[in-house]
Formats: sequence, C-alpha cells, structure tokens
Amino acid sequence: MEAIKKTAYRPLWHFAPQQNWINDPNGLVYFNEEYHLFYQYHPHGSTWGPMHWGHTVSKDLIHWEELAIALYPDENGTIFSGSAVVDWHNTTGFFPEEPGLVAIFTSHHEVKGEPVVQTQSLAYSYDNGRTWTKYDGNPVLCATNKPDFRDPKVFWHKDSGKWLMALATEQTISFYSSPDLKAWELESEFGDGIGFHGGVWECPDLFQLTIEGTEDSKWVLLVSVGDNPDYQEGSRTQYFVGQFDGSVFTPDDDEIRWLDFGRDNYAGVSFSDIPEADGRRIYTAWMSNWRYANHVPSNGWRGSMTAARTLGLKRLEENGEIVIVQHPVKELGTYFSRVAAEAKGLLLTDGRKEVIDCSLEAFDLRLEAVQIEARELGIIIHHNEEQYTTIQYSSAEHAITLLRKHAGPNDFSDMFAQPQHMKLHGSASDRLSLRILADAASIELFLADGSAAMTSLIFPDQTCRRITLYALDGTAQLVSCTVLAAE
Ligand code: FRU
Repeated sequence: MEAIKKTAYRPLWHFAPQQNWINDPNGLVYFNEEYHLFYQYHPHGSTWGPMHWGHTVSKDLIHWEELAIALYPDENGTIFSGSAVVDWHNTTGFFPEEPGLVAIFTSHHEVKGEPVVQTQSLAYSYDNGRTWTKYDGNPVLCATNKPDFRDPKVFWHKDSGKWLMALATEQTISFYSSPDLKAWELESEFGDGIGFHGGVWECPDLFQLTIEGTEDSKWVLLVSVGDNPDYQEGSRTQYFVGQFDGSVFTPDDDEIRWLDFGRDNYAGVSFSDIPEADGRRIYTAWMSNWRYANHVPSNGWRGSMTAARTLGLKRLEENGEIVIVQHPVKELGTYFSRVAAEAKGLLLTDGRKEVIDCSLEAFDLRLEAVQIEARELGIIIHHNEEQYTTIQYSSAEHAITLLRKHAGPNDFSDMFAQPQHMKLHGSASDRLSLRILADAASIELFLADGSAAMTSLIFPDQTCRRITLYALDGTAQLVSCTVLAAE
C-alpha cells in the first residue's frame, strides 16, 4: 500500500483511515501474531453513512497497515458494531481444518417508512481476516421488541464452557449464551434503575480483571452512553464493577463511574484472544464524540482511535473503592525512546515560566512534582505562537482542567471549547505525577496511577513548538519533566 500522505491533523501513531469516515473500533482480536482492528467505516464520504467494517492490522498496536474492507452491507442491512473471536475448538463447524476468526456483528436494516430492525449476524474467515464469508443462516439473533438491539461483544466463558454475548438493548445490557455462536439463549438483563441513563446504551464489554497487588478479581462491564443535548459531555463511557456467574452480572454498588473524563473516548472495547502468557486486557476506543464527530476539521478522512491501553483494577487507599486503572501499552515505550528535552530539580516559583524547547510532531511527556504549595500548577503546550493547550492542576481541589479553547479551530461545536475537568483519587494533593501523550490532533492524560484519564481532540496547525511550566500563588518542586520523542 502507498505511504500515507501526512495531511493536517493526521496522527503519526494513532490509527486513522487514509480516506473517509470511521467510528467505533470493532472486532478487536489477536490472532497469528497480529492485532486486528476492524472499525465502523463509511467508504463513500467523510461523514457517517452506510456502515461497513474497515480493517487494519498491527504487530505492535502503534504501526497500522490498512487493508481492504472486510464486511460490506448485505440483504440483512449495513454492518454495525460487533466483535470477533478465534474459534479454537471449531464450535461453529466452520473450521474443520484449523482455527479461524469469526465476526459477530449487528445487521442494521433501515428502509424508509419502515421500522428499523437490528439483528446479529456472523461471518468467518480462513485467511487471517483478509476475506470473509457471511454465514448462510444469518441473522442468528433477532430482536423481540427492541429497535436498539446491537453491538454484540462475545467471549468464551471458561467456567460454563459456552460463548457469552453482551448486547446493548436500549437502556440495558442483555447477556446471551451459545454453544456454537449460532443458537443464542437469553441469560439475563442488566441496567434497570442503575447507572447513567442520559442516552442510549451502546457497545458493552464484559471481562474479568485482577485487583492490583492481590489475587482477587472482579468483573467489569463497560457501557457507552450516547449523546444527549441535555448533558454537556456528549457521548461517554461508564463502567460497573461486580460479579458475573456465567448468567447474571451483579454490581458491587450503584455508583456511577466514568472511564475517561475527556470528551473524546467513546465506544471502546477490549481485544479478544490475547495470549495467556501476555495476559493483558488491551483496550482502544474511538477518539471522538457524537456531539461533533461529523463536523470536526477533516482532510478527506475523519476519525481516529485512542492510544491502546492496558486496563486493570485498583483498590483505592482512601475508601476501599475499586476503580479501573489504565496505562498506555508498553509498546509505546519502544516508540517514544529518545529524550528530546528534560528539566530536572527546579523550583517553580510564583509567576515565573520555565520554558522547555521542543519542536515535535508527537511526544510522551512525564512530569513529577512534589511539595506543591502553589494553588495552581500548569503546563502549557504551545502548538505555535498563537495556539496552545493548557493543563492546570488545582492543589486545593486535587483536580485537573484541560483548556483547548486556544488550541485551533473549535467553531464547529459550542461544546468543544468548554473546559474539561476531573478530580483525582488519592489524598496527597502536594504531589503530582502526570503523563501526556500528544499527537497531531490529540492529547491523552494519565494521572493518579492510571485511575484518571482524559482524552481530548485538538486541531492545532502544529503539534508542539515548546512547553512552559508555571506555578501560581506559591511554589512547587519539579522533580523532573521529560519529553520523549520517536527516534
Ligand atoms: C456507537 C454506535 C453503535 C453502532 C454504531 C453505528 O458509536 O452508535 O451503537 O453500532 O455506532 O455506526
């Protein structure tokens, strides 16, 4: 395939299509030493339209090779979100010779004047996902009475020896089971009267994670919630922590928890079939928001994915609450391997700016500060002489605010220029440990041991000219600020 031309806003290390529109990641699966990322794709325009599954593969979750379209619309409808698994033991009968991939996706049938019908379908591949055959018994699961009946996420449930599907069903998640991916039986429905219901429930994922530093594990249910103009956040993702017995998901409590406090992390799900020796739960999401996704600046392509992240669970010291922690995958350490600039052992004093010169197209910044007596500690990423993004830490609130109002165009949405804010877990507000991943059109923040993440699009003319650090109303001891760049 031809080298991708670098146009404005095109990321260097996040996946974005060469042409046209993408949204949700689909069919995330690891097979034969490749990470497969399928995605919602409209091949005839740079706004949402009749959905196909686009396809890209990677060896390291950073360099992606875009392949031919994997799934085209058919008589059952266009191809909405779904998942993919490896059928290791030929439960489907599709693989008498050797294991292969099965995609389980929503067929979205929409004809003018008729009600929308969403059903679940299968396709299988004998050549590592390069070509697909639709199952001739499609659809395999039909809606009884719900128009929103979509986004199947399927996994093999070892303890009960069957396939499990989490499916978004309007304002709930329904769990189905199957011996062969073809015949599905309803197990239970979760979500009535619990969680956030300010939008349609979409793109669930259910998996088990170990609690850091223990042998204990919990089940985590991710639920993306669609846009609703009544809320300033637009579309976003909530999660529940609890137990799953192969049939019913029981949450530990009824708290509402958000996976990411930025506006641009949606419809994320995890990879299937990561080898046991690796053991990671790797996740990626669509880096946009339904509020403005169709209107963000574009150059013939529109949409990208977040950095791939490893998910874990952590028990908070302050109150025993169990929360998700997320860290960029370790492969990024190989990519961002050069120290481009560094400041160490500085006292940040009131009103004085420390300037770090670094003209970069992408970077991975690590900052450690202690003895923060200042009311506010800030980092300004100067994209050029006019455009900048500010990241403020308020010690009184123990919270982070990201301001992207001056980071490039934002007139495509009233909401885009609004500050993004998140409280940090942990009680030590006199120290800060922050990681910033920057690319041509995005900033991803990770703090508080990964328990706080904020993913934001920005549209500056350039990624970075220099970075300044400041303290307001007091001092702070900068232990280090290291800016890593690609070789
Ligand atoms: C989420 C979503 C899914 C649906 C897909 C359609 O962003 O609305 O529920 O399957 O996008 O493109």
